[in-house]
Amino acid sequence: MKLNSRKRMFYLIYLLLLVPGVWCLLPPKFQWKTLDFAWEGQARDSAIKSGAYIPENNMPAGIARWKDRLFITIPRWKKGVPASLNYIYLNSTHSPLLNPYPSWADAFLSSKACCASSNSTVVSTFRVHVDKCGRLWVVDNGVTNMAHDVKQIAPPAIFIFDLKTDKLMHRYTIKDELLRDSSVFTSIVVDITGKECKDAYAYIPDMGSNALIVYSLKDNDAWRVENHYFHFDPHAGVYRVGGIDFYWSDGISSVALGPIKKNCRDLYFHPTSSTKQFAMSTKLLKNKNVPREDIFMGVQVIGNRGPQTQATACDFDLEHNVLFHTLLSKNGVSCWNVDKPFKRDNVPLIISECTALEFPNDIKVDHEGSLWILSNRQSRFLYEAMNFTDVNFRVLSAPVASVIQGTACERTSAVSKAFSFMTRPRCNSECKVNSGTT
Ligand SMILES: *[C@@H]1O[C@H](CO)[C@@H](O)[C@H](O)[C@H]1NC(C)=O
Ligand SMILES: *[C@@H]1O[C@H](CO)[C@@H](O)[C@H](O)[C@H]1NC(C)=O
Ligand SMILES: *[C@@H]1O[C@H](CO)[C@@H](O)[C@H](O)[C@H]1NC(C)=O
Repeated sequence: MKLNSRKRMFYLIYLLLLVPGVWCLLPPKFQWKTLDFAWEGQARDSAIKSGAYIPENNMPAGIARWKDRLFITIPRWKKGVPASLNYIYLNSTHSPLLNPYPSWADAFLSSKACCASSNSTVVSTFRVHVDKCGRLWVVDNGVTNMAHDVKQIAPPAIFIFDLKTDKLMHRYTIKDELLRDSSVFTSIVVDITGKECKDAYAYIPDMGSNALIVYSLKDNDAWRVENHYFHFDPHAGVYRVGGIDFYWSDGISSVALGPIKKNCRDLYFHPTSSTKQFAMSTKLLKNKNVPREDIFMGVQVIGNRGPQTQATACDFDLEHNVLFHTLLSKNGVSCWNVDKPFKRDNVPLIISECTALEFPNDIKVDHEGSLWILSNRQSRFLYEAMNFTDVNFRVLSAPVASVIQGTACERTSAVSKAFSFMTRPRCNSECKVNSGTT
């Protein structure tokens, strides 16, 4: 009894004193100045000599956690990326070496590669998805050297790996008729509504040509969905991140699946260069033959997150019904509990930190209730130069429940109402960044 009350006292003191000061920042779990790999034998030296590995050209863009592993993707923006799909172990220390997936032999590509090494070779991917059946879904753009002299060395394809065996289960080549010259596949999410793992649909944003590719695993077929709402908003094409100004006209880049209601669910989506939130029923997307007018009329305009809230990535937490976004120009993350009205107060910036979250580029909720965030200083990587004596890439993680605690994204219960005097202060998103390279 005595111990209990003492415990409760400590808990209260913790809540009152410690917590408010650290709300906006999570300590990085992993961080790197440059990415390096778990090479075999003398392979590192020869890869450096041949140009297959140019350390400063490797920038991580996507993450996904499965059990004791965290997948990390490296798109082939520049030359010298040994492997696009990689993982690290969660028990690693601060700056772990990356392991190519599913193996070195499959994942490695030399700088002069004409083509993929095997049917398990992922050439270039931005973001990946782990489904509830223990499968890793990857959308491969099949290109190298995107930033300078793009070369298609494999057709764009969907890969499904069995994470229990690390074997390729299935590969689907995206048909030519679904592609456009400007196609860029930036992410993938997977919808399993029934009991069967085979009854799965993947939704793949084509950011470059403002479309969604829908893929049915059962039918092994894919189709293209177009919509005006997949296009960028000219009011939201100006960015300033890491002290660098840039102008993007990027369309739909990431999507997230909402709660399942009677075999039906909404797909939340947003173009990158937009501050608006949209949704549409997956019922419309899953039907290959749905009339075009139903698709065009079927989008729900949910609202506007406010100025400078352009987001690269989003993900949904089914336990709390919360949608998360990575906000580029705020160096942080916002959330929205979809059970509450979408208004500014209900879409707060809950994590923000000028250095640790400079260019938050991916966000994932894993199957164990944790949120994962990757920041990568992409604007410096693409438009100026990185400082490789400084930390450039970070992975942050925390339980969703603690991340949303005391925010408008928490479920409103009688208890939280009573404690509403302890709601978290808003995060400050004003960054005075000296890029150090200008
Ligand atoms: C980390 O986890 C992996 C896989 O679970 C295991 O093989 C490895 O020995 C672990 N390393 C350490 C340092 O505990
Ligand atoms: C991959 O290629 C091997 C050898 O050509 C073949 O046996 C296997 O069926 C292929 N796997 C898949 C999933 O396509
Ligand atoms: C690069 O980063 C290091 C470590 O943070 C810092 O000491 C140095 O001043 C930076 N260099 C430039 C040119 O900004």
